[in-house]
Amino acid sequence: MEIKFVKADALKEKPDSSTLGFGKIFTDYMFMMDYSREEGWHDARIIPFGPIALHPASTVLHYGSEIFEGLKAYRTKSGTVQLFRPMENIRRMNTSAERLCLPTIPEDLAFQVLTEFVKVEQDWTPSADGTSLYLRPFMFGNDETLGVHAVHNATFAIIASPVGSYYKEGINPVKIMIEDEDVRAVRGGTGYAKCGGNYAASNRAGERAEKKGYSQVLWLDGVERKYIEEVGAMNVMFKIGDEIVTPMLSGSILPGITRKSCLEVLRNKGYKVSERLLSIDELAEAMHNGTLKEAWGCGTAAVVSPIGELCYKDHKYTVNNGEIGEVTQMLYDTLTGIQWGKIEDTYNWTYQL
Ligand code: PLP
Ligand code: COI
Repeated sequence: MEIKFVKADALKEKPDSSTLGFGKIFTDYMFMMDYSREEGWHDARIIPFGPIALHPASTVLHYGSEIFEGLKAYRTKSGTVQLFRPMENIRRMNTSAERLCLPTIPEDLAFQVLTEFVKVEQDWTPSADGTSLYLRPFMFGNDETLGVHAVHNATFAIIASPVGSYYKEGINPVKIMIEDEDVRAVRGGTGYAKCGGNYAASNRAGERAEKKGYSQVLWLDGVERKYIEEVGAMNVMFKIGDEIVTPMLSGSILPGITRKSCLEVLRNKGYKVSERLLSIDELAEAMHNGTLKEAWGCGTAAVVSPIGELCYKDHKYTVNNGEIGEVTQMLYDTLTGIQWGKIEDTYNWTYQL
């Protein structure tokens, strides 16, 4: 598809890498294209970054028809820019679209517009250690009517933000609170989709945790509040004895691309890995008897993030003396090594722009 380019009057100054944080600064341009049942996807354009005008009855404003993705462009040592497993994000976006009754995007079209947009903005990819250009594709329904139904009109956009680390702790262990009241998702719901509503509904527990000094919550399943699911913006893994355990994909957790990559690295290196049900009782027992050796979260924004403390029903448990463990460090080094081109990508996960 041809992409129209509308030049900005002036380009912004690139920020100092030490001031980045996460998702606060945006690049000069954004990508947009529209969908209608009659025309399909059309009017692809790269335009100056700025506000989006919406009809006050627009579906997304009332019924939350919105999905998003998150991936990063990395600056390698040699100065090139590369993406990490972009097709995985494109496929997951279409899975989310299908769940929310939003239109899917043919994979080759999504790949074309994503890579062309990143090529335009690649100079924004920072080069300081641990920094990257976070890409946020998103789609929303914008029928101009209050009827509740699958959307007929939608917009797909991509914005980009140079980022540093997601947590203020960086690679240092974070404190996580196990949430035993609110739930994030149930099987049959939207847990496996990356839709805005999942995050809106999780904010109340997140706020409560933050007030108590915790970075995020660890969700339990929505039916029995018994089985571990995932963290607010990451999947979660534990080393219990010599087994690496992560909750299986049951429909209520997000199938993370970092999770999938960690599992492939772990299996490739010969670790004993289980994707299975893990109850809070089993985890509590492992915390008590000392068999919980390591805990970490994994996600695009957070990369691989060691968990140094878990709190459940006001009981606090320190994991691995609050320090990063061996397996966590190995996964961090392997993934970031591949992403930033510091080690050979034997998995063929990176895409050079
Ligand atoms: N779980 C949730 C709820 C998330 O928001 C994310 C972040 O995208 C993840 C897990 C990790 O997914 P990924 O590794 O694809 O970024
Ligand atoms: C990501 O890791 O890309 C995410 O989307 C997490 C986010 C909700 C900040």
